[in-house]
Amino acid sequence: MEERNKERGLGQKMDMSKRVSKLKKSAIHEMTRLSKQYDDVAFLSWAKPTTGTPEYINRGAVNAIKEGLAGGYSQNEGLSELTEEIANKLRRDNKINASPDQIIVTVGAIEGLASAVMSVLDPGDEVIMPTPTYSTHIAQVKLASGKPVLVPLIEEDGFALDIKGIENAITPETRAILYCSPNNPTGTVFAKEQLRQLAEIAWTYNLMIITDEAYEYFTYDGAKHFSIAAIPEMRKHIISCFTFTKTYAMTGWRIGYLHTSEELIPQIKKAHIPFTICAPVVSQYAAITALQGDQSCISEFRKHYLRARNLMCERLDRLNSVFEYVKPEGSYLMFPKILDEKGKDSLVFCKELLKKAKVSTTPGIAFGPTGESHIRLSFCVSEDMINKAFDRMEKYFL
Ligand SMILES: Cc1ncc(COP(=O)(O)O)c(C=O)c1O
Repeated sequence: MEERNKERGLGQKMDMSKRVSKLKKSAIHEMTRLSKQYDDVAFLSWAKPTTGTPEYINRGAVNAIKEGLAGGYSQNEGLSELTEEIANKLRRDNKINASPDQIIVTVGAIEGLASAVMSVLDPGDEVIMPTPTYSTHIAQVKLASGKPVLVPLIEEDGFALDIKGIENAITPETRAILYCSPNNPTGTVFAKEQLRQLAEIAWTYNLMIITDEAYEYFTYDGAKHFSIAAIPEMRKHIISCFTFTKTYAMTGWRIGYLHTSEELIPQIKKAHIPFTICAPVVSQYAAITALQGDQSCISEFRKHYLRARNLMCERLDRLNSVFEYVKPEGSYLMFPKILDEKGKDSLVFCKELLKKAKVSTTPGIAFGPTGESHIRLSFCVSEDMINKAFDRMEKYFL
């Protein structure tokens, strides 16, 4: 029977799709796996808040459960009370002239980005991505059968956008530009003026801009996050993705949202619904509480990250024969360059550092080829953890 099927060309399709098979295993997950093999590792590799979700938000979720509100689906776009609160927040903090019918509540920023990418791209479409960037974005474009076109950030300019480079990378196949600001992994807050130039490019060439603004509230030294959707003429060209994950330390709740023009919402919903139907309802109630409650937790987190960033920079200064760095003005991540030749293979470098010094970091290659010769360090950890990691690195390198 099997022979007969083969002859008829049947039964040849058991392998995984080429699209998925071609995706590389994430170097971030590889390092996490390796880190588990050692005891007492000093972690500078996690990009998730280590503080718990503020208590008032937990209580909001518990109340929703007790009242029997959390057990069913919500509308696909999210609870109307939540989309209204989100629209208020976008108007107040992002200066986006938003209304509830321009919002979809998503499973973290990630599902918003996946739905956006899926609904914008046809197979073979190119997406320009300033890199190094969050590797998940690159995977999302590939999963949608799109082609990531990586345009390096200008490191000598503090990892600024290369506006000319982006314009030069446009081809007839270009459909979108996807960026995250504040940037993971470099911590750059892209300047308002540069984002205005990017908007002009998108307008001129009729491209979509997809943004990831996960770290919007964590900026330092007077740097200000600018939401490109605040430019009114750009309404139909922008899909902006946000999240509660970082702002309110709600990683595991899986709750975020996207904003775009009301004309695009029905199209994006066609991708959102098969991915998830709706975002977790208990998390939607938690998100309503988060937005309605006392916002002081955000400035507390920001203060903590700023102290941690300053400490990390001080400690890096003592290792200036090993690393060179751009001081990050946003997020809780930084991306030092490895000065030694050995850094050319950042994965090998990070594995050695883990094995010999028991410090877990993330290899730059995880963020695209332009990330090579760098490591990503995360300062959303305690100051004790930073000191422990750097004491070990000093002993190892000096
Ligand atoms: C730039 C960026 N976007 C999105 C995410 C994930 O966000 P969410 O948990 O909202 O899906 C991360 C997580 O580290 C991130 O760094």
